[in-house]
Amino acid sequence: MHASPWPVHRDGLLFRDAVEKDIPALQDFRNDPVANHFMVHNQVDPDDLRRDWLAVASSPTDYSCVVDRDGEVVAMGFLEVVDGPGQPGSPPGTDGLIGYFVDPRFAGQGIGTTTARALLGAAFEDLGLRRVTAAAYADNNASVRVLERAGMRRERHSVQALWHRDLGWVDEVEYALLREEWVDMATAAHVAGTPFAEFRAAADAVARQRPEVDLDTAREVFDEAARRLHDGLALEGLDDHDLAAVVAGLCVDLVAEDPGAAVRARAEAARRDAGDLHDPDAVAAAFLVSASVLQL
Ligand SMILES: CC(C)(COP(=O)(O)OP(=O)(O)OC[C@H]1O[C@@H](n2cnc3c(N)ncnc32)[C@H](O)[C@@H]1OP(=O)(O)O)[C@@H](O)C(=O)NCCC(=O)NCCS
Repeated sequence: MHASPWPVHRDGLLFRDAVEKDIPALQDFRNDPVANHFMVHNQVDPDDLRRDWLAVASSPTDYSCVVDRDGEVVAMGFLEVVDGPGQPGSPPGTDGLIGYFVDPRFAGQGIGTTTARALLGAAFEDLGLRRVTAAAYADNNASVRVLERAGMRRERHSVQALWHRDLGWVDEVEYALLREEWVDMATAAHVAGTPFAEFRAAADAVARQRPEVDLDTAREVFDEAARRLHDGLALEGLDDHDLAAVVAGLCVDLVAEDPGAAVRARAEAARRDAGDLHDPDAVAAAFLVSASVLQL
């Protein structure tokens, strides 16, 4: 048995381990001749399919799942843990391969993209993998779009690398993503749309202005601050005007020589001289809560 990363809910879909009653649906659409056009294994023996899916739960490397929408199986996701390539001695089981197959009756509804994201989330966040790749026939436009929309990076385009029964030798593309890239994307998505979105721009500005500050480190500091402030509800209750003032102040203070002193001084200044603040006491409190949430 392995510890399954499923179930996971995402965008109205339930990603879960396959059970016996799912097998007929999987058998049905996996061998659809049109949907199969770009699958390397274009036909799967129904008995093999049953055996393989029911073996997932006891496999040490297979974390494939079914995608359930309101009780109906609409897709399958493949996630296999593999050893990273290279010289002997590399740590085992660090990498992942993903794939997906949407029931053609439900194609074009975003299920493929959500499935790719769910597989990446499971690979990086639950299984702790280092790097995930996915390969496709270069002509499989829908699959290529899925990988790009999921945020994966195209790393390889191999010319006439893969045999296709109708097309002959055709090109193959491979996409990849590292764990840190996933974390970066997830943080950006978490922070986007919150008042802290401008923290990223502040980090970039600091790195540009101060050559001794490394861009990645600055982004990490600001992303982490944004996440903690957001989760700690540090700026709750401020109106948009005061919120913008606090965020702008924090963007400056977080890279001050003594960030704690800078933030507390700003709280005092807000009380002393309200300026154009709408609610100076609430602003002062927000600065103090921020200092506390960020342990400054
Ligand atoms: C590839 C596949 C997973 C796409 O799933 P899906 O749920 O239809 O994809 P989404 O709805 O998330 O759409 C993703 C993108 O693909 C595009 N797309 C969907 N079907 C397409 C098609 N037939 N041709 C071109 N683009 C297509 C969508 O428009 C969208 O792009 P956009 O953001 O530019 O609008 C699905 O077609 C499938 O399972 N195919 C058979 C199995 C397969 O080929 N798997 C991949 C093996 S590598």
